[in-house]
Amino acid sequence: HGIIRALNAREARRGNPIARLMSDPTARAEPWSTYSGVREQGPVLGEGSFRVTASHAVAAEILRSDAFGVPAANAHFPEPLHSIFLATLSEYDVGPVDPPSLLALDAPDHTRLRRLVARHFTARRVAQLEADVVATTKALLDGLDGLDGLDGLDRPHGDGAVDLVEHFSARLPVAVISRLLGVPDHRRDEVLAWGNEGAKQLDGGLGYREFLGTTRAVTDMHRAMDEHIADLRAHPGDDLLSSVIRSADALPADEQPTAVELRMIALLVLGAGFETTVNLISNAVARLDEHPEEKARCLADESLWDNAVEEVLRHDSPVQLTGRTAVRDTTVEGVAIPAGTTVLIMLGGANRDPAVFADPDRFDVGRAEAGEHLAFSLGAHFCLGAQLARLEARVALRELYSRHPDLRVVGTPVRKQTQVLRGYEHLPVELGPRA
Ligand code: HEM
Repeated sequence: HGIIRALNAREARRGNPIARLMSDPTARAEPWSTYSGVREQGPVLGEGSFRVTASHAVAAEILRSDAFGVPAANAHFPEPLHSIFLATLSEYDVGPVDPPSLLALDAPDHTRLRRLVARHFTARRVAQLEADVVATTKALLDGLDGLDGLDGLDRPHGDGAVDLVEHFSARLPVAVISRLLGVPDHRRDEVLAWGNEGAKQLDGGLGYREFLGTTRAVTDMHRAMDEHIADLRAHPGDDLLSSVIRSADALPADEQPTAVELRMIALLVLGAGFETTVNLISNAVARLDEHPEEKARCLADESLWDNAVEEVLRHDSPVQLTGRTAVRDTTVEGVAIPAGTTVLIMLGGANRDPAVFADPDRFDVGRAEAGEHLAFSLGAHFCLGAQLARLEARVALRELYSRHPDLRVVGTPVRKQTQVLRGYEHLPVELGPRA
């Protein structure tokens, strides 16, 4: 790990953009100049088996192309470490980007498993959740108001400040996803801890020891999910996971998902369902705080919230990076990509491509082309929860600001150190008077 760090630092000094993002916290906090540097040098950068793009057109083409598949699991570990590592894994040591996670499978397995969950994840089902999302949001806001009124509370973020992440942005998605998965209320905090560990594994920058550490925590979560699935099978509820289990069990024996496949579907929905949405809500509050005039526009016209959410997804994408590997020799924008080449796709960079977004660094809640962003990816792996995430963010922001229009970020917001996911660990705010 130390050697990899040193190599990264050397490469960063030589101007390697990936190494910069991995080793330089400043570049990670403000990756935009790295992205534009990559984009200005060409549609696809690099040579050998590893390339990078920050171009919207190239990203979209690759994500939609059947000449590309998902990168092999744990390929970021060099050989022989990779083989040794795989040999030490049990069926419980599976991360969110290892098979059989949907994120790590190509057709036909991907199609088979995605269909199983997608048929229950319909627009109608998401729309039915709205009343529940509103009620949960209001209850969380009541809790926030309660905190604000308490005297003598330990306030690490300064007098009068509450951590919006801890008490709001993280709580709403966990509550919503827990309900979708039929997780009982008393296990919510456990679920939150699982998600945090799983999110760390999304980062290729983890060292071997750190990776094993998170893997151990994740192993407990796998066991608990197996127990939960067994409970739901015995006592099904009206939640999404019970429906998925029921339709899986009704399939002919040779088409049924294995126990590990079913567990991974549930865990992916869980992790993907809140580790990203928490960031969307926090990023939105932070950006609106920096742009009071944009906040004022939304407060004056509530119908702007939908587009404001798209603009946050574009401007401050909660998922910054993904990757694809060429499954055959191919060409992208005139650049030859041999089979086996992995292209790192800078989604956050594609979302600031001036070829699609005029004056891309400007934050504009009324931007007409905001929805062209790739924050939810494209193609076979397009985010299953996109509509749910949009609903949660819209309700969260509308309710938060209509109750506390003068809410201000105060003190020092703390960014998460993750590279793939972009968001805040702590976002101290003063709520201001209640409207
Ligand atoms: C996949 C982003 C919320 C479930 C993805 C991918 C992205 C993404 C970029 C595809 C990665 C790739 O192509 O390599 C986001 C963002 C969210 C969000 C930015 C919130 C702001 C959600 C929610 C759920 C969810 C709320 C579920 C309730 C999934 C699943 C996949 C996925 C299951 C895997 C799909 C597949 O591989 O076929 N998400 N997501 N996501 N997302 Fe989301």
